[in-house]
Amino acid sequence: MDLQISGKKALMAGGSAGMGRATAERLAEAGVELFISARREERLMTAARAISEKYQINVTPVVADSSTESGRKALFSACPDPDILAITIKPPPVNGDFLEVTPEMWRESVETALIGPIEIMRYYIPIMKEKRWGRIVNIATFSAKNPMIWRLMSGPARSALVNYTASVSREIAQFGVNINNILPGMFQTEGAQENVESYARAFDLPMEHKAIASHFEKNNKIPAGFAASADDMAPMAALLCSPLSRFIVGQNIVIDGGQHQSLF
Ligand SMILES: NC(=O)c1ccc[n+]([C@@H]2O[C@H](COP(=O)([O-])OP(=O)(O)OC[C@H]3O[C@@H](n4cnc5c(N)ncnc54)[C@H](OP(=O)(O)O)[C@@H]3O)[C@@H](O)[C@H]2O)c1
Repeated sequence: MDLQISGKKALMAGGSAGMGRATAERLAEAGVELFISARREERLMTAARAISEKYQINVTPVVADSSTESGRKALFSACPDPDILAITIKPPPVNGDFLEVTPEMWRESVETALIGPIEIMRYYIPIMKEKRWGRIVNIATFSAKNPMIWRLMSGPARSALVNYTASVSREIAQFGVNINNILPGMFQTEGAQENVESYARAFDLPMEHKAIASHFEKNNKIPAGFAASADDMAPMAALLCSPLSRFIVGQNIVIDGGQHQSLF
């Protein structure tokens, strides 16, 4: 399928690993000029080089923390006018006992998982409206609608994010600018490995729980029968970045192998 985005410019905020990188690769494959950002420089540079060589397109790496104002300024100056904006961000690690969650922990969660993406969208939406075309995709989490007691630092802030995008997307769709969210379930990524380790630490679990695939497959009822790879999500993200998705507005697409039991 031709995604009809060859020659467009995309910013994948959080594009050096995991689902962000997999999305960046699908966009690169479709002929998009890419900007990818991350906090950790070495992995970012390696990813940018690899994607550029593999797909023969320009990839500009931007070292920037999306959760800080200075990081966002770096993004805006490196990539002032993307046609496509995809955002992912790592919220704080797994919490232990919910009674131990402090206001400082909530503030960090809200700064990263809610204010970071909102501020990036708030900057680029007027530019996309002016061009009368744009696509925005947030890679958030299925715990936005499937609460988990150990993921309080991720789910609640993302529930607020999807509430925000539900409103804003309906306001700006008339200008050809669409926002949609992907809510991933259990994916085997570097970030998930870090989370499983922090889960094991938070709940004082034995070592075998730290193996990500076995942890996911043993402890979560995934009807598909496996924990996915980032490549199982990226085609949907790329479709939502395309003109082909012009009638898809303000949606939250759960990709979780059927784990979340819900009609909608
Ligand atoms: N994997 C899962 O099972 C799972 C399940 C549910 C939800 N999710 C959600 O899906 C999203 C992607 O997860 P993933 O597993 O693909 O994560 P990942 O493997 O850690 O990749 C995240 C990417 O975003 C970058 N990033 C993270 N925080 C950033 C920040 N503040 N500023 C700029 N770049 C940042 C990371 O690089 P740096 O670290 O160098 O910044 C990396 O490139 C996350 O929001 C996660 O909460 C994942």
